[in-house]
Amino acid sequence: VNTIVLAERPEGALEEAHFSTVDVPAPSSPGPGEVLCRTVLLSIDPANRAWMRQATYRPRLDAGQPMEGFVLAEVVAQNGTGVIPGAVVGCTAPWQEYFVAPAQAVRPIRRRGPLERHLSVLGFSGLTAYVGLLEVGALEAGETVLVSAAGGSVGHLVGQIARLKGARVIGISGSDDKNAMLEADLGFHATVNHRSPRFAAELRSACGDGVDVYFDNVGGPVLSAALEQMRTHGRVVCCGAVSQYDAPRATPGPAGVPTILVTKRLRMQGFLLQDHSKSWSAALEELGRWVGEGRIRALEDVRVGLESAPTALVDVLAGRNVGKVMVRVGSDPAGGIGGARRDR
Ligand SMILES: NC(=O)c1ccc[n+]([C@@H]2O[C@H](COP(=O)([O-])OP(=O)(O)OC[C@H]3O[C@@H](n4cnc5c(N)ncnc54)[C@H](OP(=O)(O)O)[C@@H]3O)[C@@H](O)[C@H]2O)c1
Repeated sequence: VNTIVLAERPEGALEEAHFSTVDVPAPSSPGPGEVLCRTVLLSIDPANRAWMRQATYRPRLDAGQPMEGFVLAEVVAQNGTGVIPGAVVGCTAPWQEYFVAPAQAVRPIRRRGPLERHLSVLGFSGLTAYVGLLEVGALEAGETVLVSAAGGSVGHLVGQIARLKGARVIGISGSDDKNAMLEADLGFHATVNHRSPRFAAELRSACGDGVDVYFDNVGGPVLSAALEQMRTHGRVVCCGAVSQYDAPRATPGPAGVPTILVTKRLRMQGFLLQDHSKSWSAALEELGRWVGEGRIRALEDVRVGLESAPTALVDVLAGRNVGKVMVRVGSDPAGGIGGARRDR
């Protein structure tokens, strides 16, 4: 089977040439306590690039190692685990069509609708947007929310959740087309393009009398500009820093930040979704209801074939995506949506 490896660790922007495809022996039958899985959908995340820079919440990914990512997969065989073949599970796995994993490392998916939804609004993106905005950001109705990478996977959901909770929503993206779509289709009240030469002035004008919650997906100069727009007692939710993942060196900081935090009494807080697992089921309940009622739209950018994964990751980092990027590696398990019966 094919596996995609990181052939060379990038110093600057990631390119397709940093990857290679290697033919490896097909995984054998699972050992005791293991499951053999067939990859169906591969999630493409900016974090995949951050792992190549340094140890993050996992060890650094080095040249010669298989690329890894979060996948949804079908269990095709198991050995003494109790997991029923045909079940759909989520786990971290190599960029590969088949893989063996310990049963404790896979999480059964309680399927609601198309599997793609379980990587977008009903998956980590939706959960990240929900807990980041409502728990970490402590959003209240009537407040103003600013979100960066607003046309991206987490960002377009942050904007819609904020709107549903009664906030005024301003989005930042790197494309006028994305911004037009966010306003016309997803109910954002205003948008700004971070590539505009007049970005700071345009942001000031869009933010009017200030921002209560800034949901930061990108860090760097966009974060600096956003901090200037915060209202007294505002909250800055640090979700990620995409602008730093693909840059040769980190933007220097945070020289002026403490003054802004003190004078405006801001709370600036980073978070990791896995620390909020107690809230996941309630969050999925509400997200699922909104999806069912058609009140929230999940934008999904689905590429086809394992070989498209490197370009998909390069595109996410460059902003050539709208919504959640994923790769369809294999067909849905037979039985379609009815396969949910097998899930635990
Ligand atoms: N804390 C957690 O537990 C957690 C969980 C999941 C994800 N995250 C983080 O959430 C953030 C968003 O992830 P995602 O999966 O939703 O990705 P995404 O927003 O779909 O893709 C990244 C976007 O970042 C923007 N971008 C790239 N370079 C930029 C730059 N130099 N300046 C400004 N914007 C830039 C691009 O859009 P535009 O340039 O068009 O705006 C691109 O589309 C990431 O930082 C990720 O690491 C955190």
